[in-house]
Amino acid sequence: ELPCTIRSFSEAAGVSVGKVLGTMMQMGLQGGVNINSQLDLESAEAVAAEMELTIELKATETLEDSLISELEDREDGAETLVPRAPIVTFLGHVDHGKTSLLDYLIGINVVKGEAGGITQHIRAYEIDKDGRKITFVDTPGHEAFTEMRARGANVTDIAVLVVAADDGIMPQTAEAISHAKAAGVPIVVALNKIDLEGVDENRILTQLTEHQLTPSEWGGDVEVVRTSATKGTGMDELLETLLTVAELNEYSANPNREAMGVCIESEQQGDRGVVAKLVVQNGTLRVGDVLVCGSAHGRVRAMNSTLNNEPMTEAGPSTPVSVMGFDEAPGAGERFHVLDDITKAREIAQTRAHASSQESLSGISTKVSFENFQEM
Ligand code: GTP
Ligand code: MG
Repeated sequence: ELPCTIRSFSEAAGVSVGKVLGTMMQMGLQGGVNINSQLDLESAEAVAAEMELTIELKATETLEDSLISELEDREDGAETLVPRAPIVTFLGHVDHGKTSLLDYLIGINVVKGEAGGITQHIRAYEIDKDGRKITFVDTPGHEAFTEMRARGANVTDIAVLVVAADDGIMPQTAEAISHAKAAGVPIVVALNKIDLEGVDENRILTQLTEHQLTPSEWGGDVEVVRTSATKGTGMDELLETLLTVAELNEYSANPNREAMGVCIESEQQGDRGVVAKLVVQNGTLRVGDVLVCGSAHGRVRAMNSTLNNEPMTEAGPSTPVSVMGFDEAPGAGERFHVLDDITKAREIAQTRAHASSQESLSGISTKVSFENFQEM
């Protein structure tokens, strides 16, 4: 099924939008509300017939479509797959302790340095628990960052829903629950700030149940781990719970292929140029690789650990890494792909840059056009 807009129909057929809409109305076709409304193939053909036009609906194949979808669609045979670390995202209401939990787990203190204690950056770190790795992504909890947080859920295998015991489920907690559910990932609850006096645990468990997250201790399937990020309570239990969920889900990837994954954040850093934080989801990324990510492209000039900034020469599945070498800062949430040829990468990046400027000019986005139409 190839949908197209009324505008692209009119452009391709060389008749005015008014005439297309008028014809649709005469035919009693619903949906002709405005020029950006979509026509399905059947309606498009019916309208064309009514206007005595012959049309052929064709997807316009671009280099991007063919190369990138080949990479995305290529199945990795079972024999190529090896276990990979789970990618775990902290989600939850502002100030409920997402950054503090991650700080405790990796033994640094980012919270202290944050302006107003509000996370403005997405961070990703890999930690090692007795040889078993977990990749953590911390997302900003402020309402202005809803969109970034939604993207945060997309790189995620498991969501840790952080709920402060003194506050309970708040608007952004509920939002986080729907993001995690939309992403279809398992949810582990960290009932945080358990060290505070007079917390009513039953109240929170009841709220969770009301949001279809029934705690395992109440016969449901959601693990609720009591934590205190300030005291370090429940940290081992949280890690063990995550590793158990990961084992059940058997996350795997093929390290022996071109890398692909997601950009979680990027910025222009003076002399260093563009620094992009990427999470590799499949394959292995190496220094020297050609990358395309949204409308940015380049060759990996250097890679550094997100944890201690140590240089890295390669990053396998589930590894977060800071990458230098992009020509411009790719957007958070954009997927990246490794290609074998810088010319192709440039071409794809340019096509995308052009498409997005067209899109913002016209307010429409369609990859489909009418071709070979002729008046009868
Ligand atoms: P945003 O990034 O703004 O969404 O906040 P956040 O969820 O990352 O919360 P953050 O880790 O910045 O913690 C907010 C405040 O709660 C800080 O002052 C922490 O010190 C405090 N806090 C975090 N965890 C605990 C805890 O377990 N117990 C107590 N008592 N305080 C905590
Ligand atoms: Mg934070």
